Amino acid sequence: MHRSDWRSVLAVAAPAALEHLESLPDRRVHPAAGYAEIRAALDHAMTDIGLDPAQVVSDLVRDIGPYVTAHASGRFFGFVIGGLHPAAWGAELLVSTWDQNAGLFPPTPGVAVAEELAGEWLVDLLQLPAECSVGFVTGGQMANFTCLAAARDKVLRDAGWDVEADGLTGAPAVTILLKEGVHSTVPRALRFLGFGERAAVRLACDDQDRLRPDALERALSSISGPTIVVIEAGNVNTGSFDDFDAVADLADAHRAAGSPTWVHVDSAVMLLAAASPAMARHTRGLSRLDSWSTDGHKLLNVAYDCGVALCREPAAHRAAMSVQASYLEQGTGARDAMDWNPEFSRRARGVAVYATLRALGRSGVADLVDRTVRLAQRFAEALSASGLAEIVNEVVANQVLVRWLAPDGDTARVADAVMAGIRAEGTAFFSGTTYRGERLMRISVSDWATDTDDVDRVVAALLRHAELARG
Ligand SMILES: Cc1ncc(COP(=O)(O)O)c(C=O)c1O
Repeated sequence: MHRSDWRSVLAVAAPAALEHLESLPDRRVHPAAGYAEIRAALDHAMTDIGLDPAQVVSDLVRDIGPYVTAHASGRFFGFVIGGLHPAAWGAELLVSTWDQNAGLFPPTPGVAVAEELAGEWLVDLLQLPAECSVGFVTGGQMANFTCLAAARDKVLRDAGWDVEADGLTGAPAVTILLKEGVHSTVPRALRFLGFGERAAVRLACDDQDRLRPDALERALSSISGPTIVVIEAGNVNTGSFDDFDAVADLADAHRAAGSPTWVHVDSAVMLLAAASPAMARHTRGLSRLDSWSTDGHKLLNVAYDCGVALCREPAAHRAAMSVQASYLEQGTGARDAMDWNPEFSRRARGVAVYATLRALGRSGVADLVDRTVRLAQRFAEALSASGLAEIVNEVVANQVLVRWLAPDGDTARVADAVMAGIRAEGTAFFSGTTYRGERLMRISVSDWATDTDDVDRVVAALLRHAELARG
């Protein structure tokens, strides 16, 4: 590899990247090809002597480029997938270029301070307790894991048990209360933490998948001892927010009665709502809880992958995550990411958060949240006005649940046909869900680039496919 090889690689990669980004407003959203075609395009024989890097990158453009889904097109509404903010994109190019192993401050001081500041800005912006500690992880899954590991440390430590040293065998029992409809990454985190999924008690929700505070009250009144409760800001189906003040009051009372108690909020979808004055009625009481997980790669629109774990109790967070090794350089007084993350070596994924927050500013973040909610409501209004669909949820956030009506009553068939039709056409991408036993189409507006033209164009296409599916 010669010095000049960087230039020859960039000479291929940079125009290809720009071409991709500039094609987003118009390109088809999902590639038309199937597995066999993609496999055939990519399945080159390994060579003995390797290839010129610029050639390899040029082949990537040719072989993978056509099969990339346009997540950042403004017309991708599946799952909960954010777009790509230009500041995040630029930051990620540099993070890849700098190639920092960002576990410790001493070897990577620049990115370490950027991540420290990004965490402080988030805490301030989201009006969380100033003492909060922050870990930049790979996504909502690992943010839930990290926060629940801190919860496990704290409730057991308060019960006289050091779970990091002694594990769970022989530990005081921990009661785990999860709302029904909690995201599957939460029970998965319980598996990782040695609690097991079946350890959790499920609490009833209302018809918007909001926890019923009376169900929590009843559950807490019948137990004592270490207790972890998991609730949500932004349910993956309905977008709903739990009643944080009510949960905080109940948790405070349980704690005051002698039970170590921790409330974690899975806010992968909607923690950013705390930055929006227009959303204040939904986020009231959020800051009274103990930990919050969220995603940079969802609403904040940083590149994949980036999640954030925030904890009110830095000591518990650190006890759960920190690791020492004789050959490292630790204890310099500066923030070492390794103390707040489950990873050892790691990408400096918080740098994109730092850059995006700088680019958006406070009002830019609020506007991003408000716009996605407004556009979700625009979808809901247009679809329900068409007479071809009903909206199943109260559209309080960026998520819409759509029931496509069917003359023969087979709404699931129409939902699947509409989603498949529009995906095959390339106009947009939607994904489905089973909500309360019913197959529905979901809409998740999570891309800063989506505008009213995108929504109107996609609504027209959806209605066309619905008419076709109805026959
Ligand atoms: C509520 C909720 N929690 C957690 C997750 C998992 O996040 P990630 O895919 O970033 O791990 C999601 C993903 O959509 C989610 O909607």
